[in-house]
Amino acid sequence: MLIAIDGPAASGKGTLGKRIAGHLGLAHLDTGLLYRAVGAACLAIGKLDDEAASVAAAHALDVSTLDPETLRTGEIGEAASVVAARPEVRAALIDLQRRFAARPEGAVLDGRDIGTVICPDATVKLFVTATPEVRAERRYKELSARDPFASYEAVLADIHKRDARDSNRAAAPLLKADDAVLLDTSALGIEESFAAALAIVERARG
Ligand code: DC
Repeated sequence: MLIAIDGPAASGKGTLGKRIAGHLGLAHLDTGLLYRAVGAACLAIGKLDDEAASVAAAHALDVSTLDPETLRTGEIGEAASVVAARPEVRAALIDLQRRFAARPEGAVLDGRDIGTVICPDATVKLFVTATPEVRAERRYKELSARDPFASYEAVLADIHKRDARDSNRAAAPLLKADDAVLLDTSALGIEESFAAALAIVERARG
């Protein structure tokens, strides 16, 4: 059972992917972390604008060292979106993702191009979305628990900017696959979203 989950920034696809994988006993790969690690490596050496440096970082990526805690910052998300627009960076990360997806029991992968490019033959494809305002509100709540200076307006502006870059790039843009099921979680809580996603997966499983 191969499950592909795509959607824009802060749509909740990562949380859903993790929960669905846990429920079905499948391995889960948050592919955003790969691009985040490449973005973070470029930031660390001050070379975010250097395409060759980002391609080298993608080739050198060691998945065993990915640390979601340090990679899930706004700055690294922005850097990830920049390097992810480069075709050679994307090409360097394809094999790794496809190997993960080729486990005999199946897997759950989430990202932007899983249903369209990485796993076009997935058993089930979900496209998880919510309005920019709802996504910004969720992200702002998470952030403000840690940062008293967090601003909703800044988070919303960041979401708009990332949506535009991820959707308008030439290389594997964020796109709903024709055979993906759309799940709009704007009016749903976490439990309702999970139940709705699981129902879609169970239906596909027959
Ligand atoms: O899902 P996320 O916010 O962690 O992803 C960070 C960035 O990485 C996102 O803005 C675009 C890029 N990305 C991508 O281009 N393709 C993927 N499969 C996953 C993420």
